[in-house]
Amino acid sequence: IWPKAKDGSAHVARSIALAMRQKQQENKPIVLGLATGSSPIQVYRELVRMHKEEDLSFANVVTFNLDEYYPMQPGAAQSYVRFMNEHLFDHVDIKRENIHIPDGTLDMDEVEAYCEQYERKIGTYGGIDIQLLGIGRTGHIGFNEPGSWEDSSTRMVRLDGITRQDAIKDFGQEADVPYRAITMGIKTIMKSRKIYLLGWGQHKAEILQRAIEGEVTPNIPATFLQHHPDVSVHLDYGAAEMLT
Ligand code: F6R
Repeated sequence: IWPKAKDGSAHVARSIALAMRQKQQENKPIVLGLATGSSPIQVYRELVRMHKEEDLSFANVVTFNLDEYYPMQPGAAQSYVRFMNEHLFDHVDIKRENIHIPDGTLDMDEVEAYCEQYERKIGTYGGIDIQLLGIGRTGHIGFNEPGSWEDSSTRMVRLDGITRQDAIKDFGQEADVPYRAITMGIKTIMKSRKIYLLGWGQHKAEILQRAIEGEVTPNIPATFLQHHPDVSVHLDYGAAEMLT
């Protein structure tokens, strides 16, 4: 628990940078699972700073993003492709071919095979070393909304009404918020070797209390993280307020 999001984010960024440098010394790729939204922004800012000021290289980094709205054009203002470019990829030396973000432009009948391929691709790189997560007010991680099971894989999902409400700030009006998304599953996330869950602000306090201290249930998919052997949760004072 940190006084401010900035402090916790700097710590997480330093931990990721250390793992990146270790893998680089071994001449091996490191696979990062990445999130969008407000939670990881300051981690990305710190990683970009380290790239510019401390020679942190992304040349050996492979990334898989958690999710993307469906349908979504990569150039649209709300796309997660655009988000990742603006907050991280455009500012570091990552190889474009090492970046993977679920494709929001597919036809419906292409999605299932695409999702299986996304899973396989993660597998060919040896799985995710470090997964960054935020949490939604519904208890979602990725876009695994209430009702998602622990054995779920990458797939098309319907967004919860609360999640769509929360997305109005990005889309302007509810009618423009997509009803669907493509997301890694709970199983995909749980296979990551190390997970950082980030939560900043009082508005996350209630769901974080239930996720961390409540019983494990598909009604709050983030509770499945209680089964993971290496999750590190980073909260500011506001987000930690309801923990007992
Ligand atoms: C984003 C994602 C979501 C967000 C969650 C919290 O890629 O998968 O689960 O992490 O909705 O969003 P913020 O951080 O904006 O509060």
